[in-house]
Amino acid sequence: RKTRELDRASLMTTLTISPGRPLRGTTTVPGDKSLTHRAIILTALAEGTSTVSGYCRGEDCLNTMRAFQALGIPIAETPTELTVSGKGFWGLTEPQGPIDCGNSGTGIRLLTGLLAGQDFFSVLTGDESIRRRPMGRVVKPLREMGAIIAGRKGGELAPLAITGAGLHGIDYHSSVASAQIKSSILLAGLFAQGQTRYREPRLSRDHTERMFQFFGIPLRQEEGTLVLDGRPPVGWRGVDVTVPGDFSAAAFFLVGATIVPGSDVTIRNVGMNPTRTGLIDVMRKMGADIQVLGLREAAGEPVGDLRVQSAVLKGVTIGHELIPKTIDEFPVLCVAAAVAEGDTVISGAEELRVKESDRIATMSGELKAMGALVEERPDGMVIRGLGRSGENGRLQAASNARSHGDHRVAMSLAIGGLTAEQGMTIADTGCVETSFPNFEAVLTDLLAHSA
Ligand code: S3P
Repeated sequence: RKTRELDRASLMTTLTISPGRPLRGTTTVPGDKSLTHRAIILTALAEGTSTVSGYCRGEDCLNTMRAFQALGIPIAETPTELTVSGKGFWGLTEPQGPIDCGNSGTGIRLLTGLLAGQDFFSVLTGDESIRRRPMGRVVKPLREMGAIIAGRKGGELAPLAITGAGLHGIDYHSSVASAQIKSSILLAGLFAQGQTRYREPRLSRDHTERMFQFFGIPLRQEEGTLVLDGRPPVGWRGVDVTVPGDFSAAAFFLVGATIVPGSDVTIRNVGMNPTRTGLIDVMRKMGADIQVLGLREAAGEPVGDLRVQSAVLKGVTIGHELIPKTIDEFPVLCVAAAVAEGDTVISGAEELRVKESDRIATMSGELKAMGALVEERPDGMVIRGLGRSGENGRLQAASNARSHGDHRVAMSLAIGGLTAEQGMTIADTGCVETSFPNFEAVLTDLLAHSA
């Protein structure tokens, strides 16, 4: 019921952008979403109390928190910190009803792997977008490990019903570079008998590997293959995890401050994991002025402060190698490309079609409505930038811009709207709650600092 209420609230929520001012000042962004999911999972399986501070309070992570409460783990929340009373390796208990993962692909796919090897029955579901997204990519390898999972379309679509089973390790070579698949198999592998080996075509975000190491869970690399011995003889203890700010949330201001003339923004305490920061590489190639300051480490992850000043952009070619580490930033990168001078060609990015929305289709359609010149391709797009030599171009306010229920599309359109002459209202922006509940407040604050 909660999900249906959120769907309805989301449809009615709008975001209005008043352009004409630069972005200036210092800010922070919500805690990293990927790390928050993983921190909740591993602290729940720890022996004793853990804290997760600076966690992401977006709906995606709150749904994962509620999932573990339903699995018998006491979790106390304050706005800045979770206190998780872990019950040890085999400490989860059967949930009384279906678990609602909301909009979160990470939540449902990681939980599927984790729950496959428990000794109880569970059902996982989510919102309308989640029930359209491919689950076969985790269900198939998990079945090879002995998992008993039923779902719509033979297990391709949620809801998924999981009859906990005794799993065994497998040697799996994924055809997709996906941290969700990798993490799902590793979590199942923890509860499996024997060894699990996992290879992927390109390195996807490595937060699970780093967090396993942080908790002292033995996972090793053998020539690009991850190797995990299942059912570790000793579990792990509760720890204090500090979650850095989400690079994917900072990305909106990296692009916004770059394309709105006169901007100068510093974002403090941002996760700088190199498997996530492809946007900086791409934007710098385009001519952006982004500085990384005070690089340090927290909970096994690199963290820094980012300073970005406006700059004139040029189009760029983005191929396979850059896709995994830029994957969530493509919607906002499309906005940068739309105002740059020259063509931006994106290829090898077919994964964008199976995100919270089909991001190739939704961004192409919405940006065209804002006057951008975009050609959609099966695995990417060509964006003919509106910029001219020495000057970025400007998008136009669209009369019926909408998010298609995708938080990153909503926030990207808001950033694009900052370059327009007229104000613009974006419909269906309740979905922003999934990752960045205070997006509008942060944006408004940065716009209010203009001289
Ligand atoms: C995530 C992995 C990525 C990313 C998603 C978060 C994760 O998805 O797009 O937002 O936390 O593991 P894929 O594994 O499908 O690439």
